[in-house]
Amino acid sequence: MLRASTGAVPVRRACTRAAALNRDVSGDVAAVFVLTIARAGFTRDPAGAARGYRHTFLEVGMTGERLYLKAGALGLGVCAVGTFYDDEAAALVGIDPTPEWPVHFVTLGWPA
Ligand SMILES: Cc1cc2nc3c(=O)[nH]c(=O)nc-3n(C[C@H](O)[C@H](O)[C@H](O)COP(=O)(O)O)c2cc1C
Repeated sequence: MLRASTGAVPVRRACTRAAALNRDVSGDVAAVFVLTIARAGFTRDPAGAARGYRHTFLEVGMTGERLYLKAGALGLGVCAVGTFYDDEAAALVGIDPTPEWPVHFVTLGWPA
């Protein structure tokens, strides 16, 4: 599901920067995709929960890869960020971080 963070742009920027340990790449970009996984999906995997755990992370990794490929094709700058505070990242996109985990930021912008 695609959700948009709401609120004033300067506040969203400040929250996104803070969630990702005050890195410029998260605060200065034009857009940040916060990719999340739903834990319920682990046990729905026909191969069992252990495989479901791995498949879910593979899927989110491939989603990040697709964002890289599309951004590159459009001439945009893109940078994956995996270092952030879970609770702050969840609050950014309005999810409950118990059943759904933020696992990957993909930042997009114009190349410097
Ligand atoms: C899934 C993923 C997560 C990443 N997380 C971080 C991160 O948290 N911090 C970081 O400095 N680089 C992270 N990187 C690497 C950066 O995206 C980037 O490739 C790196 O900073 C080198 O960028 P440069 O080639 O423009 O110097 C991550 C890469 C991937 C694929």
